[in-house]
Amino acid sequence: DKGAYPYYMLKEIDEQPAVLRRLLTAYVKPDGHVDMPANLLNALAAADRLYFVAAGTSYHASLAAAPMFEELAHVPVSVHLASEFGYHMPLLSERPMFIFLTQSGETADIRQVLVKVKAQHLPTLTITNVPTSTLAREADYALSLHAGPEIAVASTKAYTAQVATCSLLAKALGEYKGVAAAEQLDLFHELSMIADAQQSQVDEKEVIHTIVKDALATTRNAFYIGRGSDYYVALEAALKLKEISYVQAEGFAAGELKHGTIALIEKDTPVIAIITDPVTAAHTRANASETAARGAKVITLAAKGLAAPGDDLELADVHPLLSPLAAIIPCQLLAYYTSMDRGYDVDRPRNLAKSVTVE
Ligand code: M6R
Repeated sequence: DKGAYPYYMLKEIDEQPAVLRRLLTAYVKPDGHVDMPANLLNALAAADRLYFVAAGTSYHASLAAAPMFEELAHVPVSVHLASEFGYHMPLLSERPMFIFLTQSGETADIRQVLVKVKAQHLPTLTITNVPTSTLAREADYALSLHAGPEIAVASTKAYTAQVATCSLLAKALGEYKGVAAAEQLDLFHELSMIADAQQSQVDEKEVIHTIVKDALATTRNAFYIGRGSDYYVALEAALKLKEISYVQAEGFAAGELKHGTIALIEKDTPVIAIITDPVTAAHTRANASETAARGAKVITLAAKGLAAPGDDLELADVHPLLSPLAAIIPCQLLAYYTSMDRGYDVDRPRNLAKSVTVE
């Protein structure tokens, strides 16, 4: 039931802090240690490379998750689109393990990969919001997202639940392997702070609606730019805008603009810059300025510690590995208000289904 909400999507955006807290209750023991099944950790620790295979929003969540496993658990990770992987399989490492991030657990593109890798007796883990789903049943291991039913076609709370669950798993794996970076990270504290940050972000609805009225009301295209994790957020932000408001939106690695894309910038083209990484903040700002010099309407979403006068919205300062959990929220709201203001059915965009059970 969506209660007083006009659309499920808005309700689900608002639920994200509660989902994150629920995940902490589900996966963190009272002594602060992450509680993951020992046989799963054993299988993951035996792998020399983790292969994430996913689609759409879950693919973007996989991109955000990869650096967590590399940094906290010292295991190489590659991230693949399910629709490509099954038919153009790369040369696998000696001891691969497959992780399928999937909100529905029913995505056909992923299932065909699962069938192929199981035929080779390779270990598989499904992380899904539907514990009774096909992919949860058929994989060797399954973890639940605890996000509650997601009704809107555009995924929001399942995305943040996927990213958060992966951070917990990466920390647990790192501790299991004795990696100092995992042992030193107080993830419970960091994620609790992020739940608060998400709350302040969802409370910024008026600011975001004003940005939409100023910059996105009638535009036919829009670009999101960022570097590192901010780039992965840019990809997901663009998908959100595309799927529910039918704006031609693209996410770009900010440094790539000058290698071609900048040719697309015209007067008033919206360019949304996402800046949460201190290492690359100045570079992304410079890239945004280059688009402004060509007439773009730049909207800057920057972390508090990196903010500059004239920025449009302040993002919370959070642990760099976890920044997508907070940075995506204003982007979800940008898409929501653009769709709503244009009079579309936000929850049921044209041509799309909640779970895609055909290849
Ligand atoms: O159920 P899945 O996460 O496997 O679905 C994959 C994509 O179809 C899905 O993430 C899709 O991109 C989102 N619903 C878009 O918001």
